[in-house]
Amino acid sequence: MTDMNAHFADPDRVRQYLENGPPAFTPGHAGLMQMIGVLLGETMPQDGTLLVIGAGGGLETRYLAGIEPQWRFVGVDPAAAMLDLARATAGDVAGERLRLIEGTVADAPDGPFDAATCILVLGLVPDNGAKLELLCQARQRLRPGAPFVLVDQCLDRNAADFTKRLDRYAAYARRSGVDDDVVAGARAGVAAMESVVPAQRNEQLLAEAGFDGTELFYLAMGWRGWLSYA
Ligand SMILES: C[S@@+](CC[C@H](N)C(=O)[O-])C[C@H]1O[C@@H](n2cnc3c(N)ncnc32)[C@H](O)[C@@H]1O
Repeated sequence: MTDMNAHFADPDRVRQYLENGPPAFTPGHAGLMQMIGVLLGETMPQDGTLLVIGAGGGLETRYLAGIEPQWRFVGVDPAAAMLDLARATAGDVAGERLRLIEGTVADAPDGPFDAATCILVLGLVPDNGAKLELLCQARQRLRPGAPFVLVDQCLDRNAADFTKRLDRYAAYARRSGVDDDVVAGARAGVAAMESVVPAQRNEQLLAEAGFDGTELFYLAMGWRGWLSYA
């Protein structure tokens, strides 16, 4: 696990996740959730089952369970503390429609699922075959043609503007009201994380894993969201 992954095992940091996590760091997070609901709703059956990869925290599950009263959710995440938070965040809304599994996508049932999401997770996974493996495992569990939503922070460590982009990442979180020391820790964490890759690399990996019809639907500073099909 990378250092950032260690944060998801730390109960103090997990307690801060809903306040100091994606809604504060990821521009337009509420709109992002709404877009994902619209995009999945285009093809997902009314009583379909969604595979939530990296379901810790429960933010996407809470939103999607709230807009679609019959969708069912199977969430996987290797961090037990983040799964506890997901239960607390989304449990009331999703009730018995939510099943959480401690582990990675390889520990998920075979499916086939009607859709899958992987939101703010792939950047934590090393690009040493593990990213591709995650995407392949996800695709294997989807019905042919089922939608897959990937959202990730993308940075090119070799680009001349790498430092400027890290500064923007930090500035956005400060504007959201996150404490300076938390922002500084997050900036340093991302700066050190070699698993964060440029957007083009994720597009290449999606194609290698066999996803099709890939479409960029979200671009917000360093963050990207793609809709693709199994
Ligand atoms: C930034 S959080 C995002 C959680 C949630 N998707 C959201 O958008 O709020 C990243 C999560 O990915 C989980 N994670 C890390 N590596 C993973 C992997 N290989 N498979 C699934 N989840 C993973 C972490 O434990 C953490 O809960």
